[in-house]
Amino acid sequence: MRIRTGIPGFDELIQGGLVPNRVYIVAGPPGSGKSTFGVQFLVQGAKEGERGLYVSLTEDPQNIIEDMSTLNLGLRRYALTGMILFVDMGPLSIQHFNALKDSRSMGTTYAREVFKKISAIVKTRNIKRLVIDSVLTLKFGSGDEEEQNREIARFFRSLKDLKVTTLILSEMTDLTNYSPEHYLSHGVIFLHNFLNGHTMVRAIQIIKMRSTRHDCDMYKMEITSEGIRVYPTKV
Ligand SMILES: Nc1ncnc2c1ncn2[C@@H]1O[C@H](COP(=O)(O)OP(=O)(O)OP(=O)(O)O)[C@@H](O)[C@H]1O
Ligand SMILES: [Mg+2]
Repeated sequence: MRIRTGIPGFDELIQGGLVPNRVYIVAGPPGSGKSTFGVQFLVQGAKEGERGLYVSLTEDPQNIIEDMSTLNLGLRRYALTGMILFVDMGPLSIQHFNALKDSRSMGTTYAREVFKKISAIVKTRNIKRLVIDSVLTLKFGSGDEEEQNREIARFFRSLKDLKVTTLILSEMTDLTNYSPEHYLSHGVIFLHNFLNGHTMVRAIQIIKMRSTRHDCDMYKMEITSEGIRVYPTKV
């Protein structure tokens, strides 16, 4: 079984959609469309009667709702009816970092706290689609890279047991520098936005998608007032 992402043109590249209840990474540089991708994914779920959760670790979700409401996706309505929940877990990090300023393990514990909160909402509100924006904050606070990686691995494993289809948004400017989350996830999608001559070009690339036949080429993508659209043209 596959679930539709809600990104026109994208599901055709991955045999009809995402395998449900798995964890995926959507990575890209600033403004490449990560949040838009996540919101479209949740809107598609809401259209199909599946409740979605957008966890913001960096920004006030009100800003995300406002920004994304400039797109014709009907987001405001779904947010008002509670079909898409926006939760701000940024304050959690501030509280946490203040309380544990001197502890070496504060970053790891923070990821666990975030998971606990997510897990409670997913279970009580019957969440089927989850977006976490973004992975960067989860790693804050822990100086020890090995410990950080262990904690991220634990976070991913816990998510997999939650039985919710998850997109983790990931800030990445160097798209050749892979991190542990790329290996831990079921699929990795890169959003590109680069200069070609005098023009900026947007493209989408499926780096990996387990149990799926796909190629790793870059496909033309646009962000319009209808959101992201993918074209069958390679760039
Ligand atoms: N109505 C619109 N029409 C066309 N393009 C738009 C519209 N609204 C936003 N965009 C484009 O989408 C981009 C923002 O996309 P988005 O916020 O999803 O990116 P992001 O990868 O999440 O960025 P960040 O790293 O800052 O979180 C804008 O920079 C703009 O180029
Ligand atoms: Mg964003």
